[in-house]
Amino acid sequence: MTVDRMAYGGRGVGRVDGYVVFVSDTAPGDRVRARLWRVKSGYAEADLVAVESPSVLRTAPPCPHFGPCGGCAWQHLDYGAQVTAKEDIVRESLTHLAGLRDIEVLPIVRMTDPWYYRNRMEFTFHSDGTLGLHRRGAFDKIVPIETCLLQSPATNEILRIVGDWARERGLSRYDARAHTGLLRQLVVREGKRTGEIMVGLVTTAPEVPGTDTLAARLTTAVPRITGILHGINPGVSDGLPLARVSVVAGRPYLKEELAGFQFHIGLETFFQTNTVQAGRLVEVVEAMADLAGGEAVLDLYCGIGTFSLPLARRARRVCGIEIAPQAVEAARENAALNQVANVEFVAGDVRRLLPEVVGRTGRPHLLVLDPPRSGAGSRVMRKIVDAGAPRIVYVSCNPTTLAPDLADLVRGGYAVRAVQPLDQFPHTYHVECAVLLERAGPPQPA
Ligand SMILES: C[S@@+](CC[C@H](N)C(=O)[O-])C[C@H]1O[C@@H](n2cnc3c(N)ncnc32)[C@H](O)[C@@H]1O
Repeated sequence: MTVDRMAYGGRGVGRVDGYVVFVSDTAPGDRVRARLWRVKSGYAEADLVAVESPSVLRTAPPCPHFGPCGGCAWQHLDYGAQVTAKEDIVRESLTHLAGLRDIEVLPIVRMTDPWYYRNRMEFTFHSDGTLGLHRRGAFDKIVPIETCLLQSPATNEILRIVGDWARERGLSRYDARAHTGLLRQLVVREGKRTGEIMVGLVTTAPEVPGTDTLAARLTTAVPRITGILHGINPGVSDGLPLARVSVVAGRPYLKEELAGFQFHIGLETFFQTNTVQAGRLVEVVEAMADLAGGEAVLDLYCGIGTFSLPLARRARRVCGIEIAPQAVEAARENAALNQVANVEFVAGDVRRLLPEVVGRTGRPHLLVLDPPRSGAGSRVMRKIVDAGAPRIVYVSCNPTTLAPDLADLVRGGYAVRAVQPLDQFPHTYHVECAVLLERAGPPQPA
């Protein structure tokens, strides 16, 4: 078959006798042989057997771990082809999943330099002695990493030092099946604007011999390290929050700048992963918001205030709603740190709090939302329609959940005015999108 396009999820898509087939590790324009492994009524999934005639959009992946490593799935695609594919995915989702016709999707905001862009990486210690990233499609296996092109060359040096230290000390590694072992993760965070680096070691228990030696080696080799932290996670799941975080050396937070504001980022604090593109996303949201100074703004799913603080510069007041108490605390600290007085952050579920906040503060002039990957869903969309803001900016990291939410807003009386995709995650299939909607008529039930 010939691969026509890339799909959300990362696989190539083609048609065989009109029948849709998804094949991984392919590029648009490839002529491939593939073996079907799942056949459904509307589509089939296949494994790549051989590329008979490679696409001109293919390029040699520069990373030695590309393929087995689950970090990047699109390094075999030329960067221009990656961003075109992302624009197409956004267009396809809005047309086919939301039924939105005649919507212009603006050219994607791409990265000038799409390498070393991440400000946070998390590596896993595996019971087989390796330290690396999860193997593609196998979350209990690790690909040992020597060089990663996503964060910064300093990260590779940190990986090597921590890996050597753990081996020399003979420290046990966490085994997720047996729930035994000490070392779990190595987290590296980097302030892309400030140059500061934070190293976090996550273990199952508090007693870890030799962390002082490790700290001395790290700070000597990488003087940009301003904090070395130790987090304890005795639980079964790898997720946050950690049971405890202590400082081994330096400061408990990293300084970073975004959109002209300072942020203090702890080991667990959520922060947009690509600082450069997050800055451009804030600019897009500000341009879409088009505030004049007297407006009341609601920022739903506001996290640590990434949009709330910049929007407050040109609004009368901004109210952010966020479910994670640590994020709300960080947002309040960030507001104080930057002397922004006209923002308020409320902790709780958007679904419950939105009507309450609107009842208290009145109809917002602008409503911004940036929900998690799963989208906000119909019930929240109904409440957003009821809130009656004349203008909405919807920021999404998943076009397949954005589409049904937009369809609800359009049914509720809004019109899509602009769709701006952004590439926040080069070499992966992920695509960010900011959408401007305006109320086209009187509110309708969604
Ligand atoms: C994609 S992040 C947006 C973060 C934010 N815009 C920022 O840049 O800091 C989604 C946020 O929604 C929050 N969240 C998830 N479900 C929520 C809910 N039901 N109500 C309020 N916030 C929620 C998460 O904790 C997370 O901070």
